[in-house]
Amino acid sequence: MSVKRPTIKPAEISWLDQHTPYHSSTEDIYFATGQGLAESRYVFVEGNKLPERWSKPLAEFTIVETGFGTGLNFLLAASLWEKAQDTGRLHYISVEKEPLQGADLQRVHAAFPELARLSAQLLAVYPPFVAGFHALRINQRVHLTLLFGDAEEMLSKLRHSDRPVLGQSIHRIDAWFLDGFAPSKNPDMWSPAVLRLISGLSQKGATAATFTAAGNVRRGLQGNGFTVSKRAGFGSKRDMLQAIYTGSTEHAVYRRNQHFPAAGWYVQAAETERPRHVAIVGAGLAGCVTAYTLAQLGFTVSLIDAGPGPANAASGTPAAVLYTRLSQYSSPQNDFNLHAYLYACRFYPPLLDSATCGVLQLLPSERKSDAQDLVNQIGAAQYLQLLDPQSASARAGINIAQAALFFPLGTAISISRLCVKLLESPAIQGFFHSPVSDLQQRYNGWQLDLADSDKRIEADAVILCCGAQSQQFLQTEWLPLTPIRGQLTAASANSTSKKLRVVLCGDRFITPAESDTHQFGASYGLHDASLQMLEGDNKANLATARQLLQDPGFAANGAQSAWVGVRCATPDYLPIVGPVPHYSDFIETYRPLQHDKKRPLEQAAPGLPGLYLNCGYGSRGLSFAPLCAAEIASQLQRGLSPLPSTIRHALLPGRFIIRNITRGHFADP
Ligand SMILES: Cc1cc2nc3c(=O)[nH]c(=O)nc-3n(C[C@H](O)[C@H](O)[C@H](O)COP(=O)(O)OP(=O)(O)OC[C@H]3O[C@@H](n4cnc5c(N)ncnc54)[C@H](O)[C@@H]3O)c2cc1C
Ligand SMILES: C[S@@+](CC[C@H](N)C(=O)[O-])C[C@H]1O[C@@H](n2cnc3c(N)ncnc32)[C@H](O)[C@@H]1O
Repeated sequence: MSVKRPTIKPAEISWLDQHTPYHSSTEDIYFATGQGLAESRYVFVEGNKLPERWSKPLAEFTIVETGFGTGLNFLLAASLWEKAQDTGRLHYISVEKEPLQGADLQRVHAAFPELARLSAQLLAVYPPFVAGFHALRINQRVHLTLLFGDAEEMLSKLRHSDRPVLGQSIHRIDAWFLDGFAPSKNPDMWSPAVLRLISGLSQKGATAATFTAAGNVRRGLQGNGFTVSKRAGFGSKRDMLQAIYTGSTEHAVYRRNQHFPAAGWYVQAAETERPRHVAIVGAGLAGCVTAYTLAQLGFTVSLIDAGPGPANAASGTPAAVLYTRLSQYSSPQNDFNLHAYLYACRFYPPLLDSATCGVLQLLPSERKSDAQDLVNQIGAAQYLQLLDPQSASARAGINIAQAALFFPLGTAISISRLCVKLLESPAIQGFFHSPVSDLQQRYNGWQLDLADSDKRIEADAVILCCGAQSQQFLQTEWLPLTPIRGQLTAASANSTSKKLRVVLCGDRFITPAESDTHQFGASYGLHDASLQMLEGDNKANLATARQLLQDPGFAANGAQSAWVGVRCATPDYLPIVGPVPHYSDFIETYRPLQHDKKRPLEQAAPGLPGLYLNCGYGSRGLSFAPLCAAEIASQLQRGLSPLPSTIRHALLPGRFIIRNITRGHFADP
């Protein structure tokens, strides 16, 4: 049954003065009037002893907050981190059920000019109110993940994705800012379930601070492994609580394990050290975006491709469109599509030479009410608008006869130009004309043998970004990939088509003219990996372009040129992102699931430590690549996933083997 994505309602607030909001239905304040920063510094910063802890250099530090509210705690923590640390990274995670509108944040922050730069950086990436995880890069040294939804559900998703390694918490939470409204007015923020999750996510030494000294909060923390002390409260408040997690590791692991569904096929055996030098095979869009993301995080990258330079296989397309098809229903696939697109809309603009032109997706009349639902759900005109034919025509610059969805941040992108930009970092070394023929596991990493030469490359970890050729290695030949041939056609603009200002999409697309030439297509040849140009495909592309432009005379002289490439699709149309399982051992371990999908099997997935896949983008490379790269990076860093567990598991390579086991494809020997 399809379930609509839960809506995230903006907070209903009134104002106590020019800069102080008040939450109307809870009848509570976000911070003490006129003393927001002083309160935040006293309760949360000093309550967690951050000045002392930040007085020595740290590579990273993670704070989790319950209740993002105005973002004041975040801005203060980020500014103090930047002052205290020269290079390390602060990861701030905050859960929020009713976010404030960007304009309201701006109004609150205006009272604190010392936070103006960070406030502007936050507002520039503040996401639309869509349920789920939003990984935001505030700057090089400050990353913020906003979890929009109820605290219990979001922390539970955080905890489930916090477990790719058996018996270990993958990421370290150093400090908790417990900042719901008062427990008497906002009990669900302080419920036993939420406190249990906080404990389950904590490791020895994690601290917590909160403005309240309520008995149930104190007892709840104590009962969940924290040693709690009282301290004088801020302003007129008598007491507040400080706590440190002292629960034994066994206790924490036991508690973590208790919460997990039966078969932990997505759990990896403990890995050795975090890799430093990573080899990426394939310098298409996936490889280049991954290399860029890793270089920004301090990894050294060797990027290896068989071709003469980046973007020469599917990524060599003369024009690709950043856009996606969205649904108002929630499923791992729909939620990934939406979040990947939102992430991509933040990722690309600083890398592009020009502003985004926007994408107009024409709607059949029967899809209008669904589209309206979707637009209401996203509720952010800078991402998605429903336009009537008149407004659509004004946007497009040509006559549009039907309603359309408008994606203002969608655009046509030359992937090859983009890739050149992505590879500018000195931390990335490119090896071209270098086909990898073999991958061999070594005691401390991997050796990559290059065909037709004695040359080898050694690395701590390898990421395979080989698109439609990702099955070529012994370790990955079982992957269920489908090639889909596609042909793009180019033709000269005419006086009408020149006016087109947006990318126009039906089943196929046409781009605005660049150097008097439009690109349009693409055809869709399932199970076809041939690269031969087909006249029939050009005809079909031309017919659609004429229809989209409502101009039967368009390109009367036919096509100018054509380009052919092969997409790499998966059976569930989701990309493949994560560690490569050890195929035969994986089957042996999980074979018992054929009789009972839910049978408890608390065993780590047998894998090939240090070998990862990032491929299977189908027709949505531009939209998928940035979030897939962030996910892979989090796995290499042993850090927090930018994805909730539901989506993270849906992308793992091992899912196909599990599916085949539960469908009875591997009978008992
Ligand atoms: C006609 C067409 C139109 C498209 N339109 C769009 C669009 O509008 N919007 C959109 O978002 N997406 C579009 N796509 C999809 C998009 O192009 C792909 O999803 C994306 O480019 C895939 O990137 P990739 O890096 O995974 O694969 P590829 O670009 O195929 O790169 C794989 C790389 O791996 C290298 N390689 C493979 N094996 C080895 C080896 N053994 N050693 C060294 N190197 C190796 C190859 O040389 C290649 O460079 C389109 C695709 C096609 C074909
Ligand atoms: C005191 S305010 C937080 C103030 C904030 N830390 C700041 O710096 O402005 C409490 C926040 O908790 C949020 N909240 C309340 N109940 C929640 C729940 N069950 N799940 C997630 N957030 C919740 C409220 O919407 C509100 O923004």
